Amino acid sequence: MKKMIKFALLAVLALTLAVSAVGCGGSQSQEQPKEPAKAEAKPKLVVGADATFAPFEFTDPKTGKYVGFDIELMQAIAEEAGYEMDLQVMAFDGLIAALQAKQIDAAISAMTITPERAKVVDFSEPYYKSGLIVAVQAKNNDIKSFEDLKGKKIAVQSGTTGAMHAEKITDKDKITYFTNSDQALLELKNGGVDAVVNDYPVSAYFIQQGNNDVKLVGEILSAEEYGIAIPKGKTETLEKINAALKKLKENGKYAEIYQKWFGEQPK
Ligand code: ARG
Repeated sequence: MKKMIKFALLAVLALTLAVSAVGCGGSQSQEQPKEPAKAEAKPKLVVGADATFAPFEFTDPKTGKYVGFDIELMQAIAEEAGYEMDLQVMAFDGLIAALQAKQIDAAISAMTITPERAKVVDFSEPYYKSGLIVAVQAKNNDIKSFEDLKGKKIAVQSGTTGAMHAEKITDKDKITYFTNSDQALLELKNGGVDAVVNDYPVSAYFIQQGNNDVKLVGEILSAEEYGIAIPKGKTETLEKINAALKKLKENGKYAEIYQKWFGEQPK
């Protein structure tokens, strides 16, 4: 009798061990894929962008995702620098304040490096050469360049170099300010204003998208370069971003992204 109890106990013990071994194996194989991911957890880089500025940053109408030259470049930079990018979409004229308040770690938004902005934020090395252009209705024949804008009604995007330039050539009460540049271009289409002063590649892209009732006139004012803005004094972030940008220019990735969005090699 005693022997039988002993045997039964042993059997139960063996069974328990077997079950727990299986259990262990099971849980181990479940945890395994998690562990390397944990080891790789990258620091976040919160990037602000005004995603209404095609082809630099905009919402893909088909997928609803944020796309564009800046978005892809920033993703590649973040990857190269060992960050995980967290994109925060906001109005262009709120980006500088968000950087100053350190709500975001960087901003990419086709932002022109200007001396005024450089007083309050730091900029990466330039990543794109740009300039301003005048857009008018295709049927307009009296505005042929920036010089003809005096006294005309102009639409601009708030807080942009286009807005600053318009303020230099015409009275403020002749300027209509919009949160995004598409709204300014639509106002032009609707005849609410005589012209739009905006970044050349963006107004050109707008026309390419089938807005043939709008045309570009005159020369491009091309003394602008875009940079990634970073809160003042965040030298480590700035250095990492610059190093990554340099690497991408050397290894061909920058040229690849440029070619994809502009159909040509970087200038
Ligand atoms: N380059 C111009 C500027 O810096 C316009 C940029 C607007 N960018 C945008 N994503 N809305 O003022």
